[in-house]
Amino acid sequence: MAEPMVLLGAALTGFWLFFPAYLANPSAVLSGHGTPVDFGRSMGGKRILGDGKTWWGLIGGTLSGGFIGVIQMLIGGPTGLPTFGTTLFAMMIPFVLAFGSLFGDMLGSFIKRRLDVERGAKAPILDQYDFVIGAFIVGLIFIPGFMIDTYLAGTAIAGLVMLLVVTPPLHRAVNIVGYKTGQKDVPW
Ligand code: CTP
Ligand code: MG
Repeated sequence: MAEPMVLLGAALTGFWLFFPAYLANPSAVLSGHGTPVDFGRSMGGKRILGDGKTWWGLIGGTLSGGFIGVIQMLIGGPTGLPTFGTTLFAMMIPFVLAFGSLFGDMLGSFIKRRLDVERGAKAPILDQYDFVIGAFIVGLIFIPGFMIDTYLAGTAIAGLVMLLVVTPPLHRAVNIVGYKTGQKDVPW
């Protein structure tokens, strides 16, 4: 059994380094408008993704999530907080996480549309975890070393457990804020 402090460290590191993925969604809500990613097209009589997934949301969310990661890298040195690394390649990591998060969000919408769930309607589990799954799928393709070291290998699994535990309440809290501030039409 690993040292509890080692597991706690891995859990907090995993949470901290997932910020770009977390921030991507609210940023997409703020920047989203205009042309939908599916250009309004349908598949088998049902929208591919729906009007809730727009190009501006995808671009704004990816850039915002990536930039927060770059800021995390800049403050990592002076503060000693964990970072994505110090190389130019490492700077890609937060952008990949943010894009992956929104890719998962689109995957969730794709599945919702196939199941006849209207845009904005609730889909438990899918709504809370689609972006985590997306960040892992895209992350394992483009930045496998980072994903494995931070969330999967040995004690780093505590990082993944942390995400699974913290994400549903965090998702709920952020959406309630979004609803109360008029950014979202529904509190989920
Ligand atoms: N949004 C966007 N582009 C994205 C993601 C989100 O423009 N790629 C904006 C849309 O205005 C969307 C809002 O953020 O309505 C809330 O996002 P979300 O809850 O993910 O979408 P829903 O409208 O609930 O649609 P769906 O049922 O497909 O999840
Ligand atoms: Mg929604």
